[in-house]
Amino acid sequence: MSYDLIVIGSGPGGYVCAIKAAQLGLKVAVVEKRATYGGTCLNIGCIPSKALLHASEMFEEVGHLDALGIKVAKPKLDLPGMLAHKSATVKSNVDGVAYLFKKNKIDGHIGTGSIAAPGKVVVTKEDGSTTTLETKAIVIATGSDSAPLPGVPIDEKRIVTSTGALELDKVPAKLIVVGAGVIGLELGSVWRRLGAEVTVVEFLDRILPGMDGEVTKQFQRMLEKQGFTFKLGTKVTAVDTSGKTLKVTVEPAKAGEAAAETLEADVVLVAIGRRPFTEGLGLEAVGVALDERKRVKVDGHYQTNVPGIYAIGDVIAGPMLAHKAEDEGVALAEILAGQAGHVNYDAIPGVVYTSPEVATVGKTEEELKAAGIAYKVGKFPFSANGRARAMLATDGFVKILSDATTDRLLGAHIVGKGAGEMIHEAVVLMEFAGSAEDLGRSTHAHPTMSESIKEAALAAWSKPIHM
Ligand code: FAD
Ligand code: NAI
Repeated sequence: MSYDLIVIGSGPGGYVCAIKAAQLGLKVAVVEKRATYGGTCLNIGCIPSKALLHASEMFEEVGHLDALGIKVAKPKLDLPGMLAHKSATVKSNVDGVAYLFKKNKIDGHIGTGSIAAPGKVVVTKEDGSTTTLETKAIVIATGSDSAPLPGVPIDEKRIVTSTGALELDKVPAKLIVVGAGVIGLELGSVWRRLGAEVTVVEFLDRILPGMDGEVTKQFQRMLEKQGFTFKLGTKVTAVDTSGKTLKVTVEPAKAGEAAAETLEADVVLVAIGRRPFTEGLGLEAVGVALDERKRVKVDGHYQTNVPGIYAIGDVIAGPMLAHKAEDEGVALAEILAGQAGHVNYDAIPGVVYTSPEVATVGKTEEELKAAGIAYKVGKFPFSANGRARAMLATDGFVKILSDATTDRLLGAHIVGKGAGEMIHEAVVLMEFAGSAEDLGRSTHAHPTMSESIKEAALAAWSKPIHM
């Protein structure tokens, strides 16, 4: 069989690239080693985690309706039912990708893909049989997997990665999360809401490194109010699995400080980052170069050092986010079809789907300071927003950063209910190189949480009205 394009990996990068290329008239095949399409995101990442985040948030909210004048009996957890909701959500999404492949006449090959040579992909099925496919272009979209923690062996039952944490058949009495990143805080939230006592051990002296420090500081206080315990500047050095409960040895991250202590846990979630996945692709043999962090090296058009072999998504540099992978998939398909594909890396939003949510786009204040860029800050708290008061959702604020000289929007950071939806008006504005004045002069419907974005923009450009 001969193709214009073979995509190895069917995650958000791979499946979107395949669909877009097929829409542009290319003959496309996808090789996927998992039994279902959709990659990490649809099978064991974005989608199942959001199903559990939503369900657990509802479970917790139902218990706190008194303040709205609603009396309900204490809710009871049906964990198998909640996990069934998660599985059904995953199934409908992965089935959706299979349907889209059919609709766009994309050939799906289930098996492990390896690159024998430019233009040649070998698919090895589970039974060991192989098929060789020929193609003009190959896209590596093999994603990432969880980074291991030395001395802490994963069994996906008691010591788990995110994959095991989406499958626990019982709420752990005590959960220790290693890493205060996105996975740790999202999945830590799920199990805390369902009844676990959650302690987060983080190597650095802050949570969510890379996000705006003022936002994450306030967010940390909110999480502590919810019951999270944080041990910052701390590392896990060993986990003793011999007893009924796990004994977790933690030490200050900086040597020479106080002595080690032992924490007890029923489950330990290791969430210290993800690493690019290139195993079994045969990259060394074909000479595809990797960078210092074992990511596939690409040029501005996603081509590796070997002509005809391209890469996108988590396996290359940049934020490990589904929408970044998707947009790279579209851009590359356009390039392969002779068009001008492009991704604006300055306007990729990031959302932490906790309660409240944290959402960010563009530069943080720390980044602007480090780059020596003169900027203005506009902030507006949800406590001054009418809709937030009506919904008892006054926690959090919006922070707008704009260029001190040109007023161009440089960054937007929100912690608050619905932040993940609200951030997109800043994304679109940045895409069009808009200013804080543009945002502040745009009419926002009243009463909405989004009015706080307008007010924060007004605060950056001139003065807010409601503060
Ligand atoms: P992947 O989705 O990892 O897909 C790669 C695919 O390639 C896999 O299906 C794999 O089986 C296949 N593969 C690998 N090697 C081969 C081979 N040799 N042959 C054939 N197939 C192969 N991002 C967000 O933006 N929002 C979120 O809410 C979010 N939540 C997440 C929650 C969790 C718990 C996790 C773990 C991740 C989350 N992410 C989220 C990150 C997101 O999942 C990734 O950024 C995204 O999946 C990357 O897409 P990708 O296409 O590069 O790779
Ligand atoms: P992360 O990079 O977000 O966070 C890892 C955290 O672990 C960091 O705070 C880091 O300082 C800490 N850490 C590293 N080594 C440590 C150690 N030895 N001991 C203690 N702490 C340590 O990684 P995470 O949470 O595993 O997520 C992986 C990727 O998945 C992220 O890049 C993220 O973008 C993506 N993801 C995105 C989501 C979203 O967009 N909502 C949700 C979940 C994952």
